[in-house]
Amino acid sequence: MDGSLAGRRIVLGVCGGIAAYKAVEVCRRLIDAGAHVVPVLTKGATRFVGTVTFSALASEPAQTELFGAADPIPHTRLGQSADLVLVAPATARVIGCYAHGISNDLLTNTLLATRAPVLLAPAMHTEMWEHPSVRDNVALLSRRGVHLVGPAEGRLAGGDVGAGRLADPADIALAAARVLAGVTRDLVGLTVLVTAGGTREPIDPVRFVGNRSSGKQGHAIADEAAARGARVVLVTTVERPVAPKVEVIRVATAAEMESAVLARAADADVVVMAAAVADFRPKAVAPEKIKKDEGLPEIVLEPTPDILAALGRAKRPGQTLVGFAAETTDVAANAAGKLRRKGLDLIVANDVSAPQAGFEHDTNHVVVLDADGVATDVPLMDKRGVARAVLDAVLARRGRTTREERDERE
Ligand code: PMT
Repeated sequence: MDGSLAGRRIVLGVCGGIAAYKAVEVCRRLIDAGAHVVPVLTKGATRFVGTVTFSALASEPAQTELFGAADPIPHTRLGQSADLVLVAPATARVIGCYAHGISNDLLTNTLLATRAPVLLAPAMHTEMWEHPSVRDNVALLSRRGVHLVGPAEGRLAGGDVGAGRLADPADIALAAARVLAGVTRDLVGLTVLVTAGGTREPIDPVRFVGNRSSGKQGHAIADEAAARGARVVLVTTVERPVAPKVEVIRVATAAEMESAVLARAADADVVVMAAAVADFRPKAVAPEKIKKDEGLPEIVLEPTPDILAALGRAKRPGQTLVGFAAETTDVAANAAGKLRRKGLDLIVANDVSAPQAGFEHDTNHVVVLDADGVATDVPLMDKRGVARAVLDAVLARRGRTTREERDERE
């Protein structure tokens, strides 16, 4: 943690879910980092953890009541004085109320009364997390600039396994620090190399083997990384507007992308391969346009170089390598296989057959898998929001790796 939490006033909202017990650890971490923490528990939360536990740890006694407290308007005082409102765990009910402006308890009133940034750490059963109404509410809040951390995939209450597990308390505290540090500053000092668009493999001077990639997702990652202070190099096949500070290298084929990427990768702290690189190309390129009246041509294909696998083999310590996996079946398993085989830190599993997701759309829905098995579901949202989530996962991964290296040394 970089000191961004020290002296900052954080309202820690705790909702009624089994993960409420982990909010105690979140509270402790925030306090240890020097934050002033005011816990606000919903009625449901108090069925899982007592207020005394939070009051003992936090900077102020835990609050639960909108009416009847010494302060006649506790929600406005809490909302107006907060530097950050963090809700961990955030349940489907509170997310839904917040998305639709419904205030029916102290926490939902505080959420509506604040102008401070809000960070939600959702936790619920997979069926609830995947319910379209929850997805829509989360997407709506994300469009309004509400920050999200997690949920992760893993063991849930009752022994089930799936998406919806509360993010690790250390990652929640880190996310809170990042929000408070200001999202435009957290990539300063890092060089990020991004690829975007689909490669075109020529058959003859007028025809090519290609794919539907518009470059929107890769360009959104480059823009977001630049906005957050990174030095960005974008290797792209498409002509799209991009943030002024981004260095753009235009390429067309997989071979051109390979040489551009390999030439710049050694300098990069983070490489994100969002491009749809052709897996096959015509073995021979006809020097002139193939004539229709010469009969059906036979086009022999050969594999293209796997750029990401080469990056995986050459990866240096401290470098974070992110691949994308465009899949239509067995999405998680196929993506996990690519992550392993190509030696990646993270892979962004993109079900390109899902509605409003993948190629050409302005929106996307992905799951970010990390090499330690941590999975983060990024619900349907615009591609800039997905870019934000991918870069958050990169920073969480880099933070985790640094912590592990430090623990190993100690
Ligand atoms: O561009 P948009 O219209 O916005 O669409 C976004 C997207 C669907 C293209 C993007 O979200 C996405 O999924 N990109 C990866 C597409 C892809 O090529 O997936 P893949 O599963 O075939 O490849 C796996 C990874 O290996 C990718 O990171 C790819 O860049 C890389 N690769 C693939 C082949 C190859 N020869 N070299 C590579 O480096």
